[in-house]
Amino acid sequence: MNADQLTTIRRQFPVTKRMLYLDSAHQTPMPTSVREALEEFIAEGHQMAGPKPVWLRRVEQARARVAAFLNATSSEIAFTKNTSEGLNIAANAVPLQAGDNVVLIEGDHPNNAYAWLNMKRKGIEVRFAKLRDGEIANAQTFAPYIDERTKVVTLSHVSFHAGQVHDLASIGKLCKERGVYLVVDAMQSVGVIPIDVKALGVSVLAAGTHKGLLVPQGLGILYVADGLDELQPAYLAMSSMARPPSDYIARPDDLDVRKDAGRFEFGNVNLPDLHALSASLEMIEDVGVAAIQQHVTALGDCLIEHLDRLGVRLVGPRDRGQRNHIYVLGLPVETWATYFARNDVRVSPERGGIRVSFALFNSADDVDRFAEIVRNGLKEGSLAKFANMD
Ligand SMILES: Cc1ncc(COP(=O)(O)O)c(C=O)c1O
Repeated sequence: MNADQLTTIRRQFPVTKRMLYLDSAHQTPMPTSVREALEEFIAEGHQMAGPKPVWLRRVEQARARVAAFLNATSSEIAFTKNTSEGLNIAANAVPLQAGDNVVLIEGDHPNNAYAWLNMKRKGIEVRFAKLRDGEIANAQTFAPYIDERTKVVTLSHVSFHAGQVHDLASIGKLCKERGVYLVVDAMQSVGVIPIDVKALGVSVLAAGTHKGLLVPQGLGILYVADGLDELQPAYLAMSSMARPPSDYIARPDDLDVRKDAGRFEFGNVNLPDLHALSASLEMIEDVGVAAIQQHVTALGDCLIEHLDRLGVRLVGPRDRGQRNHIYVLGLPVETWATYFARNDVRVSPERGGIRVSFALFNSADDVDRFAEIVRNGLKEGSLAKFANMD
């Protein structure tokens, strides 16, 4: 991303004038184009209630865009409410039988863990692969836990609490060899890391859209690979059916569901957010996800240099390729969170310290300003005393 591009993007994010926003792994602020798309949708709803067929045509355009974004086809994309809903759909769709097992990473996002832990009611064993904080998961992480009763391996693409980018390619290859479904939580990677579901061997991918995709909460995307017909929905609505009755009378003897991912879409979808998504995808595609990844990783390089100079520990990985836009600083939350809030810096408290996360609108100047604020904090006796505690 060049300087002119960054200036144009920053103009789209008024938040950059109000505070130092380093919290996009929590929630990205809305760009102006997304706000305008929402306002246009509201005006259409307010003045003429649609018309709905126009809105639904736009939903299909958004679906095609999301599909292209993941190197999937439109038939493999369903719209959901959020990541959790997508992961729960997956957990209930995989044909699991008592005695089967599922492998997760210990300490991975609870919204994924609970979806599978809920399967314990059906006699499914949930195995947790161990990972040191900040370590990258790869095929070797999972291999010792997989046996002939393993049906699913599931993990976040990017960890929310130390920022490591797990090696999905090697995990996907292992899953393929062992005949295991790979279910991915892409909440922290979609929009900031290029994702090719085919190349990575992903069976199901779920994500919300309120982080890297720049849309307000309430819309999720779900990829289900074509051909996994044995994955069946736990819920049904008219929208899931192969032959929805044109007279709106449900036929008990015709319960075939659609073959495409639409079988996992239940009733009306989040139309305002889908309009917002079209606008945000236009902006993201304009810059390019690879360029966004390059940009946030370069900001990470700059941050790590500052941290080294300041003597502040980085909790997650240092190597490029293992990290992306999330960086956790070994500064204790109790004292530093209020210090950052006092200085108009938006960051998140995390397990290992203070989480800083970048998005396309952040600049090297933001990182320098942040480092200056940390430097000043370290001069305050009460904060310095607590710096770098494990
Ligand atoms: C890895 C990961 N998964 C899921 C979520 C959120 O789940 P949902 O979209 O269901 O709110 C988050 C953070 O909000 C996350 O970091």
